[in-house]
Amino acid sequence: MLLRLLAPMLALVLGACASTPPDSLYQSLGGEPGVRRLVDEVVHELHTDPRINALFKDTDDAYFKERLFEQICELSGGGCSYTGLDMEEAHSGMQLTETDFNFFVDDLRTGMTRAGVSIGAQNRLLALFRPMHGDVLHK
Ligand code: HEM
Repeated sequence: MLLRLLAPMLALVLGACASTPPDSLYQSLGGEPGVRRLVDEVVHELHTDPRINALFKDTDDAYFKERLFEQICELSGGGCSYTGLDMEEAHSGMQLTETDFNFFVDDLRTGMTRAGVSIGAQNRLLALFRPMHGDVLHK
């Protein structure tokens, strides 16, 4: 009897764990609403940063935000799948430099801070972005 009661509860808990581990970075970022807010703030920041905003003047924001959401969700353990261009393809022809990358990171930080993301979670997310460096720059 006890087993009959406990089994569905256990299945529920394990099911939830399989899709989004409770200690995942995704959870620290606030799950779906948190990551969507973060993406909104970051894209706003990219558009208002005079150092790099010219690059985003023709951007389809709805598309770009959705791809960023998927990418951050996937990287942070939220269980999404990124469906956009690979990073090299997405940035080819832009000839982005280390300086551009630093401006972009500044905007990520400002956007994340405005979205209420803790410094610890910001650092964890930026550490996941860093290895993409080579695919994004000088293409
Ligand atoms: C690790 C760092 C970066 C990540 C994770 C990233 C992520 C992305 C993603 C997901 C897209 C959309 C891909 C698609 O079209 O399917 C994109 C496009 C783009 N990214 Fe990045 N990016 C990074 C670095 C940068 C930097 C440093 C800059 C410039 C300062 C930049 C400028 C752009 C621009 C201009 C687009 C095209 C937007 C449009 O469609 O108009 N990115 N990026």
